[in-house]
Amino acid sequence: MKPADQARGRRQFLAGLAGATGSLLLPREALRAFPDRPQIDSLRDVLNIAHLDKAASRRLSPAAYHFIVSSADDGTTARANRAAFERVRIRPRRLVNVSELDTSIELFGATLPSPILLAPAGNQAQVHDEAELATARAAAAQGHLMIAAHMSNYSIEAIRETGAKNWFQLYPSPNREFLLHVAQRAQAAGCTALVLTVDGPGRGNREAERWFAKRRNRGSSRPAMQLGNFTQFKGPKGIGDPTLDWDAVAGLREQFELPLLLKGIVTREDARMARKIGVDGVIISNHGGRQEGSGRGTLDVLPEIADELRGRTPLLMDGGIRRGADVFKALALGADAVCIGRPYLWGLGAFGQAGVEKCLQILQSEFSSTLKFAGTPTLADITPQHVWLPE
Ligand SMILES: Cc1cc2nc3c(=O)[nH]c(=O)nc-3n(C[C@H](O)[C@H](O)[C@H](O)COP(=O)(O)O)c2cc1C
Repeated sequence: MKPADQARGRRQFLAGLAGATGSLLLPREALRAFPDRPQIDSLRDVLNIAHLDKAASRRLSPAAYHFIVSSADDGTTARANRAAFERVRIRPRRLVNVSELDTSIELFGATLPSPILLAPAGNQAQVHDEAELATARAAAAQGHLMIAAHMSNYSIEAIRETGAKNWFQLYPSPNREFLLHVAQRAQAAGCTALVLTVDGPGRGNREAERWFAKRRNRGSSRPAMQLGNFTQFKGPKGIGDPTLDWDAVAGLREQFELPLLLKGIVTREDARMARKIGVDGVIISNHGGRQEGSGRGTLDVLPEIADELRGRTPLLMDGGIRRGADVFKALALGADAVCIGRPYLWGLGAFGQAGVEKCLQILQSEFSSTLKFAGTPTLADITPQHVWLPE
């Protein structure tokens, strides 16, 4: 066969293939439409937080992926978190000079460049070897505050060496000496506030996590790593204290020198109690729907608590934030700042430190863009009139 015939034959073959694959391998529509669930193989493909989720689901073992995404019972609370953000809409104002944006916020006497904080998440070695160290390095590089978790695999001293700004999250323990020991270590290491998580009188029923954890040995999975904040203390180190009540928290408040926030408040009544006993801040949270089913979305809870605390006690919220516009909605409804959990854990699981950085860049850039569209160049410009809630 002559070379010209060979070339024509190849062209015809390729044209035929393109035609055939129009319906088989590579549908033409797939080339035109932006896919809802694309295959994400590299960090360069990642455009949004859903892409980080997708990448984590492809790269992690089922046990590690479900450690991140699992939620309590039938997932009703986790879904309510998202549904609340989808219902609320933005009322943008036009013709405001938005050429200079300022996303900084003052909290407990410190200026933070962004109101997007990293929520505490324990046991990050389940999803990446560098665990909390990678997260802290990313937080430091991007200028976001990280709430380091009591149940971290790396110790608070090691996390602090990354140069990140940190608060420290505590779980109640029946052994108050252990609690005080960890709080003192966090303070000595340079954390600037303590966050006591109060939504855990028991462990949430996360069935997907339990299912895959049982089958862990059958697939590839990471060995359990020790908890870095537990090693120095010699006495009992139990976590979870069903006896903890408001009096006990008031007692702890007296003993801590750092500002104390309560994480897990979801009603006006409890926000009022928190203010009454003099806590320094509240984080509205249902643990990302990991503890209880049948809970309300945290954005739905926000107005009643903001009504109680606005202008008196710093108020943060978390649960279901996946877009910069979600951060805006939370601030408009009364939060001073927000925390994110799964978004950065997907980034960590899929791409390590670079994935966490990507997560923070995406949310910060989307948030800045929302500020521009809404006509609110600073956080102080955002008001409840900038959002619309359906009746
Ligand atoms: C894998 C995982 C581990 C978590 N570990 C903790 C923890 O140790 N302490 C805590 O207070 N909250 C913990 N949380 C809850 C987060 O701090 C946060 O409330 C929640 O993730 C926010 O919801 P989001 O994931 O929808 O952003 C964890 C969440 C996840 C997903």
